[in-house]
Amino acid sequence: MVRCSPVCRRLIHKLDATKRSICARSMSIDLRSDTVTLPTADMLRTAMEASLGDDVMGEDKTVLELQEYMADLTGKEAALFVPTGTMANLAAILSHCNTRASDIVIGSTSHIALWEGGGAANLGGVHTRQIIEDEDARMDPNDIIDNIFPDADDHCAKTTLLCLENTQNMLGGVALPPSYMSAMGKLAKEHQIKSHVDGARIFNAAIAQDVSAKELCQDIDSISICFSKGLGAPVGSVLVGDSEFIRLAKRARKRLGGGMRQAGVIASMCLYAAQHNIDRLEDDHRRAKMIASELQNAGFFLPRNGQVDTNIVYFGLPADTDISKQEFQMKLESEFHTLLTAGYSKGGELFRLVTHMGIDDEQIEHATDGIVQLAKKI
Ligand SMILES: Cc1ncc(COP(=O)(O)O)c(C=O)c1O
Repeated sequence: MVRCSPVCRRLIHKLDATKRSICARSMSIDLRSDTVTLPTADMLRTAMEASLGDDVMGEDKTVLELQEYMADLTGKEAALFVPTGTMANLAAILSHCNTRASDIVIGSTSHIALWEGGGAANLGGVHTRQIIEDEDARMDPNDIIDNIFPDADDHCAKTTLLCLENTQNMLGGVALPPSYMSAMGKLAKEHQIKSHVDGARIFNAAIAQDVSAKELCQDIDSISICFSKGLGAPVGSVLVGDSEFIRLAKRARKRLGGGMRQAGVIASMCLYAAQHNIDRLEDDHRRAKMIASELQNAGFFLPRNGQVDTNIVYFGLPADTDISKQEFQMKLESEFHTLLTAGYSKGGELFRLVTHMGIDDEQIEHATDGIVQLAKKI
C-alpha cells in the first residue's frame, strides 16, 4: 500500500471539506479550459490505495486494469496508457505511419495541426496535408480523396492516415455525429489508409448525442482519449485500437520517453474519472448552452449562429461595444473574478470559455452577468 505524504494528507483534508472539485485558481471562476480542475478527495484516495508495479515491465496492475477497461468501453482490442493527449496523438501517428516520409490528411484547425509543436513532422518525419473544415468541423470527402497519394508515384509521400477530432475544439467543441465518423472511417478503408480520431473529448461527443463512444468510433481504427479534460483527472490519456496498432504505439511511446514506471498512481485517478465522471458531462454542456444563449440574446457574436454542442463556447464582443478586448478581459478578472482565454479565430477577435466540473450554475450566472455588463456598460 502506498503511503501518503503530510502535504498530500492536508490536501485531501481540505478537499474533503469542500466535497467537490475546485479550480487551480480557487477564488476565480476559471473558464479558460476544462484542464484546470484539481483532483477530488475521492480521486486522491483511489491513488493512495492503488496497486502498483513497474509498467515498463508490464507489472502495474492498475495500468493494466485501466487499459482493459478503456479497450472494453470503446469496443477496441487493446489500449495503451500515456501521460498526455499530445503524446497519444504522436504515438498513434508513429504507429500508423511506421516509416518516415508518410503523409497524413488532417483538418487545418485540428489540435494536432495547430497546437502539438508540429510533432508529426518535427519528430516523426510525417507530412501533414491540411484541409479546411466547414464551420461544423466537417472536411469535404472530395478534398480528402484529392489529398490521398499512392506510394507508386515518386513525386509523393505515401498517404497513410486520415485524422479527425471529436469533439473539435477550435471550431467550438463541435460533436461530430456517428454517421460522419462512420463515413470517414469507411472512406479511409476504401483508400487503404487508416483512420485516427483525436478524441481528447470523445465522451463529450458521445454524451451530447446520446450514443456510446463504442458506437461513435466503430468504423475508426484508433482513438486518443484524455482523462485530464472534462473527466477531471490531473494527468493521463489512453490510446485504443487493434493489438498490432497498440504494439507499435507502445514502442513509439518508449522512444518518446513516455514509458512510465509506477504509473498506477495516476492511472488509478484516470480509471476513477472514467467510472464516475462521464455522465456528469451533460451538466457542463447545459451550462455552456446557458451562457451561449444569454450572450447571443445580448448581441454578442457566436459562431454557428450560437449552436453549442458541448462544453466549449467561442464568442466575440457585440459590434456596438466601446470596451477594448484587453480592457474587457482585464476587468472581467478584476471585477468579476472570471477568467477566460482571448485571441482566437476571426483575426484573434474571439474569446473562449470552457465549462467543467469546477463550475456550478451560480458561477455561470455570475460570469454571464459580468460579461454582459462589461460589454454593454449596463
Ligand atoms: C482536442 C485536443 N487534443 C489534444 C490535446 C492535447 O492534450 P495534452 O494537453 O494532454 O497534451 C488537447 C489539449 O487541450 C485538445 O484540446
